[in-house]
Amino acid sequence: MRSADSHDTSPPYAQLTQRIAGEGASAWNIHFRAKARQARGEDVIILSVGDPDFDTPPTIVEAAVTSLRSGATHYTDVQGKPALRERIAAFHRGHGGHADTDANNVAVLAGAQCGLYATAQCLLDPGDEVIIPEPAYVTYEAVVQSTGAVPVWVPLSADEGFQPRAADIEAAITPRTRAILINSPHNPTGQCLTPAVWESIATLCREHDLWLIVDAVYADLIFDGEHASPDSLPGMRKRTVVISSLSKSHAMTGWRLGWVVGPPALMSHLVNLALCMLYGCQPFIQDAAIAAFDEPPTAIATMRQTYRQRRDAVVETLRDSEVVATLPPAAGMFMMIDIRATGLSTHAFADRLLDEHGVSVLAGEAFGPSAAGFVRLSLTVGAERLREACRRVERCARECQGESRLAARPLNGMTS
Ligand SMILES: Cc1ncc(COP(=O)(O)O)c(C=O)c1O
Repeated sequence: MRSADSHDTSPPYAQLTQRIAGEGASAWNIHFRAKARQARGEDVIILSVGDPDFDTPPTIVEAAVTSLRSGATHYTDVQGKPALRERIAAFHRGHGGHADTDANNVAVLAGAQCGLYATAQCLLDPGDEVIIPEPAYVTYEAVVQSTGAVPVWVPLSADEGFQPRAADIEAAITPRTRAILINSPHNPTGQCLTPAVWESIATLCREHDLWLIVDAVYADLIFDGEHASPDSLPGMRKRTVVISSLSKSHAMTGWRLGWVVGPPALMSHLVNLALCMLYGCQPFIQDAAIAAFDEPPTAIATMRQTYRQRRDAVVETLRDSEVVATLPPAAGMFMMIDIRATGLSTHAFADRLLDEHGVSVLAGEAFGPSAAGFVRLSLTVGAERLREACRRVERCARECQGESRLAARPLNGMTS
């Protein structure tokens, strides 16, 4: 006799499951393939993920251990420990944020990703539109769609260095627009918004009564210049939400410690959401985060300097290439490589680069159609290994270009 369960399917899943299962989730397939090959002992250079190759600085690790040993293993302040929120507020003020930002403007959450998700739940209703420059970080689509809101993509032009133009954003505004989501410094391109563009976007937000959501996870990894935060612009404090974390700047991706800075009313909503979802971040991790803010800046400055040197190594190695070009980032840990001259789609190029040359990168299209023709590589291996990866990229690109030229050449005596 067949068991009653053997061919029965489960009851239906919520429609939410469809809205969060987009392309973003499959973007990582090439990375998982590269990891599997590396685990088999093959010579694979993995440049497909944004996880720093540095260890979390030891003083931070020790702070967590000490905190655990001292019994910080219980429920804690759902909004985040006041001492940590004060440090985050100070960090925000020091990174161009509004001068009056204090602990009441901060909620501590499990990474910037959790901050983005929680913010979206508190700001967006079904049918709302959120304007997002594209290419964009892969999770944004699912985050926005999880709420029933709709992402409205504004293409960034490769020929303008992927810098957003306020006029394009303005053209996308409709009566249903609720928010503009800006990531600066930007993943995947590493570009930063200029103060003038921030001002124009702020004007649009004021004129159309919009939220401005800012993902600033790479704010501490700017190579040249200062980070600007639009909440310090006139009339913007009440409509700006800035999300960040320690993941990238402090090599703490696995600790899951991030935050949201915004108006106190939003903090109350986030606390209510956290009450039914998270119930506060682990106290020993919050204590480690306090140590991270107290960490002498040298450790952080050294990491930033190292990313910068790696960026320069890539630029230098590919400088004379006739088939690929670099778009040097102003910040962060990624770099876009222009492979349009190969004649291949970026997915096909990325697959071939991994299969035949042992380097994994992400296809630009994973971040949006406007990044077609570019691949993103992470600056997360040492400079020498990066140079080797660049040589392989260049070799692969030359092969592809040669083959597509051959394929395009008409055969003697044949007419079409
Ligand atoms: C632009 C951007 N936002 C958010 C995140 C998520 O960061 P976290 O580890 O703090 O959740 C990432 C991670 O790669 C990112 O690149």
